[in-house]
Amino acid sequence: MITLSVIKADIGGYVGHSSSHPDILAKAEEDLAKAQREGLLIDFHVTRCGDDLQLIMTHELGENNTRIHQLAWDTFVAGTELARQLGLYGAGQDLLADAFSGNVKAMGPGVAEMMFEQRTSEPVVIFMADKTSSGAWNMPLYKMFADPFNTIGLVIAPNMHEGFSFEVHDIKDSKKVMFSTPEEIYDMLVFIGAPSRYVVKSVRHRTTGNIGAVSSTQKLALIAGRYVGKDDPVCIVRCQGEFPAVGEVLEPFSHPNLVEGWMRGSHYGPLMPVALRDSNPSRFDGPPRVIAAGFQISKGKLVGPRDMFDDPGFDEARRQANIAGEYMRRHGPFEPHRLPLDEMEYTTMPGVMKKLQGRFTNLD
Ligand code: F6R
Ligand code: MG
Ligand code: MG
Repeated sequence: MITLSVIKADIGGYVGHSSSHPDILAKAEEDLAKAQREGLLIDFHVTRCGDDLQLIMTHELGENNTRIHQLAWDTFVAGTELARQLGLYGAGQDLLADAFSGNVKAMGPGVAEMMFEQRTSEPVVIFMADKTSSGAWNMPLYKMFADPFNTIGLVIAPNMHEGFSFEVHDIKDSKKVMFSTPEEIYDMLVFIGAPSRYVVKSVRHRTTGNIGAVSSTQKLALIAGRYVGKDDPVCIVRCQGEFPAVGEVLEPFSHPNLVEGWMRGSHYGPLMPVALRDSNPSRFDGPPRVIAAGFQISKGKLVGPRDMFDDPGFDEARRQANIAGEYMRRHGPFEPHRLPLDEMEYTTMPGVMKKLQGRFTNLD
């Protein structure tokens, strides 16, 4: 069994919240290379999506392993030190705890991990998003694993025809529930159609029970009790064979669905699929974007990445995202561009309300 761990944090932006400084990536590479030399990691890859530092690691220690989480935490802490020296923006933004306490999950960083028996050939796509929140994968995961209009394999591939089971988390009430698809898609959509509260955590093959996808569900605002930046989630998807083909896994992103995030984490905007080099959300701190790093995992080694959205086949999605983004932007401070009051990450409402208290009078 090997474990693939993706642990990420925004430890400082360059410039503002738009991107990452190359020195931060180089420092994280150094730290993980040391851990690999010491035998803790089989392999690793350091990358970024916008202002988020992404640590992609393979090892044999299983999920939620203290040593792996400690390594990620220490790497973020050391990176924060460098970010401070460089004067990067929001240095240490996502490190919400003063000291490591066993598992980074409730400490700010986003985590997606899966342990599995490696197949002879193991194609995996890791999606990473910036300027959006953890429910952003709900619609894409639904399409990949439950929608025959996206994934023809559900209809014509005998090893996928039985369907998949979805683990859905209620992140406000800390509860989870399982759904079997296709039978229960109507029930499931009641929940996952509300991605600010119900988030798809993982997807498994129904007959083999094998893990197909895992997402990060950490909700920064809930952990901190206040706004500290968007979750900027990640998602790991295994492909081919009993799972959707690589092209079926990428296909949902040909439609830039509206997600929450963008400027001040308080707006709806289209999720634009981009090449890694274009993951620098600038216009109105966005629009939100997603990158896809493809790997073949071989004996735990990460062969790759291939930059999967670096393909003219996604040009039209990018164009549509710009059109949809422009359309949303024209609403300025009005809903439904701006999030509803209780979903906004920034608000002046209590202060303004207090100031105007005496001026509200009853309607006749
Ligand atoms: C959204 C995001 C940015 C910031 C905005 C204000 O997730 O990171 O849009 O919210 O740039 O940032 P501060 O409050 O740090 O000045
Ligand atoms: Mg940031
Ligand atoms: Mg970010």
